[in-house]
Amino acid sequence: MLQTQNIFEKEFAKETIFLDRNMITPHYTPKVLPFRETYIEDISNLVSKTLKGQKADNLFIYGKTGTGKTSVTKHVMEQLLEFASQKNLPVEGNYVNCRNHNSKYRILVKIVKEFYPEENFLGFSAAFVYEKLLDYARKEKHLVLVLDEIDKVKDLDELVYGLTRCNDELDKGSISIIGISNNLMFKDRLDPRTKSSLCQHEMIFPPYNAQELSEILEQRTEIAFKPDSVEGSAIHLAAAIAAQESGDARTAVMLLLHAGEISDKKGLRKVTDLEVKKAKKKVEEELIFNMISTLPEQQQLVLYAISSLSVEKKPMHKITGAIEVGVLFSGEIYDEYCRLSKKFKETTVSARWYRQYISELEMYGLIVSTNSGKGIKGQTRLIKLGFDAEKIKGLIEKELAT
Ligand SMILES: Nc1ncnc2c1ncn2[C@@H]1O[C@H](COP(=O)(O)OP(=O)(O)OP(=O)(O)O)[C@@H](O)[C@H]1O
Ligand SMILES: [Mg+2]
Repeated sequence: MLQTQNIFEKEFAKETIFLDRNMITPHYTPKVLPFRETYIEDISNLVSKTLKGQKADNLFIYGKTGTGKTSVTKHVMEQLLEFASQKNLPVEGNYVNCRNHNSKYRILVKIVKEFYPEENFLGFSAAFVYEKLLDYARKEKHLVLVLDEIDKVKDLDELVYGLTRCNDELDKGSISIIGISNNLMFKDRLDPRTKSSLCQHEMIFPPYNAQELSEILEQRTEIAFKPDSVEGSAIHLAAAIAAQESGDARTAVMLLLHAGEISDKKGLRKVTDLEVKKAKKKVEEELIFNMISTLPEQQQLVLYAISSLSVEKKPMHKITGAIEVGVLFSGEIYDEYCRLSKKFKETTVSARWYRQYISELEMYGLIVSTNSGKGIKGQTRLIKLGFDAEKIKGLIEKELAT
């Protein structure tokens, strides 16, 4: 009889240099977070008030992407809740990623659903859900709510106002907020009252340097890869690349993950500099695409206008005779943006907000801009896309279609 092999047999038997691949994915929250000890201590200090039956002050954490904000906060919360449950103290927490829950209503529903797992709240009014949250806290509970990527919340002023007001209505029990964002400019959009209540305390996480990233990667390599399967120079190279780009630990971790995958695919027993260099391109693309897909819709539209115009536009002749490719005038982008926002039946923001969005896109490194000087059409702002226009345009088209 013909013996057929299960199609997964071959895949399953493949040699791999990973000991535990999960440990080197960006989703894994490490138990040890070097170079963040003082931040861990400061946050613990703040939230520890709840263990003594008091309200903790609200905290706003800001720092560029991959600086450990989410990992550190989750770690502190885990420890807090573990301690509270061991000592039987009425402290509870809730973590919400506002990228997935981007309005006051959705956030409140997500929170109360965790506090009342057996009930269903979808379809109930915001006021009802809010009352449920209050009822829960009234049982003398001290709640710490972590709102990660808080800049994604459309009606943040109302949310913060509502949650702060809760405390006025509570005799016992309290609600505290830890807001996290990698977008500093978003604070300017907030109502001054929201800003002052959310930012009772502020903390800024700095980027990591190459030395720190090397140590972070060395620790991770030990648990994620089989012994001696990553060359020391490959670790240093990954750290150096990530430090140079942004000081972002996520980039560093992803570089090693992809380098490991490349080695596995080729049946190699080690990760060397070469695999890290190959991984660089892939990681850069992934990070850009990930960033674009998390931008608010209005910013996606501005970026869409820039990429569409860049694809269409002919090279520009400067007065000096030099030729520039892909350089756009700020005004023409705004016109295109207005046209597109109507086409997609979105609201159209004012020119002032548009300039704010341009600054933010530049902060993310998606575009570069300069003042034209006197060479072209008087003084105007010139804008250029930082990455391949066709690719970015295609990606946003997909995003806008969903
Ligand atoms: N101090 C550290 N030690 C070990 N790993 C770290 C450290 N800081 C960050 N990382 C790793 O880097 C990755 C990104 O960290 P994290 O998600 O905490 O960044 P973030 O500041 O929240 O970024 P973003 O603004 O993009 O959400 C995670 O996979 C985490 O494992
Ligand atoms: Mg984060």
